[in-house]
Amino acid sequence: MSVIFDPVKLGNITLTNRFVRAATWEGMADEQGHSTPKLAKFMKKLAEGRVGLIITGHAYVSPEGQAHHHQLAVYHDKFISKLTEMAGAVHEAHGKIFLQIAHAGFRADRRLTGLEPIGPSAIMEDGPDPISRAMTEEEIEKMCSVFGDAALRAQKAGFDGVQIHGGHGYLISQFLAPLFNWRSDGYAGSLRNRSRMLLETIHNIRAKVGGEFPVILKINSEDFFEQGFTLSEMLELSQLLDQECKVDAIEISGGNSYRGIGRYAPVRSGKMSPSEEAWYRDSAIQFKSRISIPLMLVGGIRSLEIATNLIEEGFADYISMSRPFICEPALVRRWESGDERPALCKSDTLCFKKLLDGDDLKCHVCPAV
Ligand SMILES: Cc1cc2nc3c(=O)[nH]c(=O)nc-3n(C[C@H](O)[C@H](O)[C@H](O)COP(=O)(O)O)c2cc1C
Repeated sequence: MSVIFDPVKLGNITLTNRFVRAATWEGMADEQGHSTPKLAKFMKKLAEGRVGLIITGHAYVSPEGQAHHHQLAVYHDKFISKLTEMAGAVHEAHGKIFLQIAHAGFRADRRLTGLEPIGPSAIMEDGPDPISRAMTEEEIEKMCSVFGDAALRAQKAGFDGVQIHGGHGYLISQFLAPLFNWRSDGYAGSLRNRSRMLLETIHNIRAKVGGEFPVILKINSEDFFEQGFTLSEMLELSQLLDQECKVDAIEISGGNSYRGIGRYAPVRSGKMSPSEEAWYRDSAIQFKSRISIPLMLVGGIRSLEIATNLIEEGFADYISMSRPFICEPALVRRWESGDERPALCKSDTLCFKKLLDGDDLKCHVCPAV
């Protein structure tokens, strides 16, 4: 049997296999952002389905950084007790779980937060006023520390690690993209400057959680729009991370859902043939040829055959999927038991659209549900 089902190290922890449930906003936290019994049960089911690593949906690190309704929050110690229950439920089923920590930046929903969105620059939309305010240098420094505090809370709650959300057009990815970052200070301009907030965030997290606690990063392979973060910049930044900072893995994704300007993964839909799977495979190949940080690959992976090839050809170290596990939380168990039909997920992204309408996370069409 393929090594894909064998135990594998991530940092200094051991996962049951190489399958990862990619971070997926579940819409199951309570109104304030606390985890709920329903969400803990949902995570436990994934662990029982033999997902090697579960990454939670994005948890906002600061009140003004909330993007979605019923999103997890981690901006205060009061969230630790319910998060502990979630991590405990996964551990009961012998799974491993990371908390994804995030800030939506100017994409935060002020109807939910009641607060003015902030970001690298003041973004204009259709109206006469900017939709966000540019952060001051002090606020940026504070934000790096706020991410560090969130990571520490995850550690205290018994999570096995954290993932920093640096992709999909949220705050860190806004700093990385010149289209959204036209500051005139040391956080803008060169790639090194645009990456500064991310690098300082990683240092802050490490200072708080120590060198042994797994810290991973999700970034875009590229933004897919003019003046966005490019593939060569992703490679350059990853090389920098290789030399300077300790992250235990990088998950590469892509795009940005902001006003449809980028090719954000969930928007790509329809039944995929094997040749259309693994959208960011070419970026992964380039990454693996020059960077030694382990790579998690996400985006459109639907068959065991493709997943196995990616691992065996050395193009990825971990296989990450989101929508297939909404439809089939026990997909890994099914594949492992010999039923190797591709994921039943039709990639229609109805799950996401209905979530935006106020629903919680479920598959609306899968015959298995
Ligand atoms: C319903 C839904 C919620 C998502 N929430 C998050 C999230 O909280 N954080 C994140 O990094 N990506 C999120 N994503 C993106 C997924 O992690 C993943 O990158 C993307 O769906 C492509 O993988 P897939 O083809 O296996 O679904 C979400 C996707 C969906 C469909």
